[in-house]
Amino acid sequence: MDFVGKSILVVGGSSGIGRATSLILNSLGAKVLATGRTKEHIDETLQSGPRITFGKFNLPKDSDKVVNWVKENSDILHGVVFSQGVIFTEPFETFRTHELEEMFKVNVESSFIILRDLIPLFKEGGSVVFISSVDAFFGETIPSSGYALTKSAIIGLTHALAYELGKYNIRVNSIMPGLIRTNMTEDFFKNEFDNERNEFIKQIPLRRAGTPEEVAKLIVFLLSDDASYITGDSIFIDGGYHTA
Ligand SMILES: NC(=O)c1ccc[n+]([C@@H]2O[C@H](COP(=O)([O-])OP(=O)(O)OC[C@H]3O[C@@H](n4cnc5c(N)ncnc54)[C@H](OP(=O)(O)O)[C@@H]3O)[C@@H](O)[C@H]2O)c1
Repeated sequence: MDFVGKSILVVGGSSGIGRATSLILNSLGAKVLATGRTKEHIDETLQSGPRITFGKFNLPKDSDKVVNWVKENSDILHGVVFSQGVIFTEPFETFRTHELEEMFKVNVESSFIILRDLIPLFKEGGSVVFISSVDAFFGETIPSSGYALTKSAIIGLTHALAYELGKYNIRVNSIMPGLIRTNMTEDFFKNEFDNERNEFIKQIPLRRAGTPEEVAKLIVFLLSDDASYITGDSIFIDGGYHTA
């Protein structure tokens, strides 16, 4: 896959899946614009990918600033990956409204606004990848109602946008990872969760969590011209968890 001459924005490129995606794209010759929220995470990423251009933004409040920053750094875009995300795992009965609102705004609304305002930069068509989750389809032992709500919304948005943006040759897909070891899930890998984790991993046909790099390779494929006839799709990348 060749990304020379391609400009790609990775929102949430400072950690986990977004970081791995930014680094692979960088190694394939893309001009990578990436956003992060935490300086330390941005600096860690830059150590492995010094040619990545980083902006530090706090979503959703900085959505407009992200758009302006991208326009200042590139007059064309060929792809966008939305890998920013937060999770709150409260039981449904006591779910705090402000946490539901924050999760929806970070995970869904900021992507909607940023993509909407960057469409004019897709002058040659392009590819958009959203990150949903297996939680959009399956209940979990860890309470996931609010998170599932945001991840289901992404599937609907993917379908609607694939239809609406096809006329510009913009492809829109989402991926649905299972358990991937990143900062977001790090607590689940602590000793105190050994039992819950082992029970969860027993349900995964491949009997292990995935790595950010494995997920990033799927994202990079969907961004590439090799995926030129794939749009409106939502693809599981979960070690087979969805078959259990
Ligand atoms: N890990 C999994 O098992 C899993 C499974 C299914 C889906 N997903 C989804 O995959 C995506 C990537 O998650 P990950 O596992 O790679 O998590 P991660 O390592 O925690 O990365 C999340 C990224 O989002 C950024 N971010 C979070 N809140 C933000 C905010 N308010 N404003 C701006 N940026 C913010 C983080 O920035 P900083 O690090 O700089 O703060 C980081 O770059 C998320 O949408 C997540 O829901 C993950």
